[in-house]
This record gives sequence, C-alpha cells and structure tokens, in this order.
Amino acid sequence: MSIMATLTAKCEKFMSSYPMAVKVYNLYYKKIVHTEVKLAKITANDKVLCIGGGSFPSTALEIANMTGAYVNVIDNDLIAVRKAQNLIEKVGYNNKINVNHANGAKIDSIGYSVIHIAQQVVPKNDVIENIWKNADLNARILIRTPSNKLEKLYPAFNKNKWLNKRNKISENYKFINSTLMLEKLEEEHNNQKNRNNMKSYNPKPSYIFG
Ligand SMILES: C[S@@+](CC[C@H](N)C(=O)[O-])C[C@H]1O[C@@H](n2cnc3c(N)ncnc32)[C@H](O)[C@@H]1O
Repeated sequence: MSIMATLTAKCEKFMSSYPMAVKVYNLYYKKIVHTEVKLAKITANDKVLCIGGGSFPSTALEIANMTGAYVNVIDNDLIAVRKAQNLIEKVGYNNKINVNHANGAKIDSIGYSVIHIAQQVVPKNDVIENIWKNADLNARILIRTPSNKLEKLYPAFNKNKWLNKRNKISENYKFINSTLMLEKLEEEHNNQKNRNNMKSYNPKPSYIFG
C-alpha cells in the first residue's frame, strides 16, 4: 500500500467513531465532489458506485446530498465497511447509501451509470481495467488522480493509457490534482461486446496425441 493510502485509511478509521466530524471532514471533499458532480452531470436518476469508500465515505455522502442519487459504496477492508455502515446509519443516510465488502478489481459494474474510483484504490490499473471493460453504454467513470509532485505517495496508475480514451479532465486541486473522466461511448461499447461475443465462440483447444 502507498503511504498516503495507509495514512488516510488509518485517519478515517479513527474519525468514523465521531459522526460529528462529518461536517468538518466533508468540507475537504465538498468542492472536489461538486466539480465531479458537474463533470459527470450526476442527477437523481443516476445509479452511482463508489469504489474505496473507506471508513468515512465522504464522497458518497456528498454525492447523495448534492444530487439525490442512490449510492452503492464498496471497500475491500471489512473493518472499514463495518465502520462506514455504522456511520451512515448514525447520520441517517441508510436509505440513500449502501456499503458492502467487495473488491473493485472484481466487482460487476453493470447497471451503474456513474462509477467513482477513489484516489487510494489499489491496484488502480486493474480496477480501472475491470470497470472499463464491463461498464454500461454511456457510463461515466470518475478517477481521482494525484498531482505530479505527490504521484509517488499514491498507488501507481498508468494515466497515459487512459488519456488515449475519450475523456474529460476537471480542474486542478492542491492535493488531488485532477479527476479524470472516461465515458463509455457507443463505439467502444460495441467493440467490447464484439470482443466478448468472440470469446464465447472460441472453440475449446483440441489436443493431438501420438
Ligand atoms: C481511505 S479511503 C478514501 C476514500 C474517501 N473516504 C472518500 O470518501 O473518497 C480509500 C479506501 O479504498 C479502499 N480500497 C483500496 N483498494 C480497494 C479495492 N481494490 N477495492 C475496494 N476498496 C479498495 C481502502 O480499503 C480504503 O478504505
């Protein structure tokens, strides 16, 4: 795990026992999430998946609050999941946010119109690859990426590969440099479907003995 990922996870675990801290902690995320909501044009009709919500799922809380969209959160750390579930209940958001234990590199993203990938998610390339491959047509994938200066402190991520896809990049921030948005457009979606169909028609390998 990277330094920043470890530090943030520890800090969030401690803070999640204090629901009163929600307002203060969310102040940091408010502006970032506001820009992301605008970038992906998230509305109440969207179904949102947040990957790597942590013990203190501020991004999910802000998205639900700002847009009215239903948010499913996943985290691969069971302790973080339990803490987040408690917090969501205490702040009265259990009819708007659901938190589950799952790995972003394996999760099925079908049915989600917006997928948000946290800065500290690992292995980031595998998670993006998995989401991009299976995402629905017109799904928007938001990927938080670190600034160049802080890049080494965060999980490794092959930004250039994804910059080749059709995408938009939001404004810069101090710590979280930018949020990259990938859109699953028709051409890419059809290409993917064709590739999947081809796979299912692949004959089983045959062996010749003798
Ligand atoms: C510390 S949180 C930060 C998120 C922040 N609270 C927010 O609202 O945006 C990052 C979380 O990502 C989780 N995580 C890392 N890799 C993951 C993966 N592959 N799948 C799911 N969760 C992951 C970590 O367990 C950690 O709790």
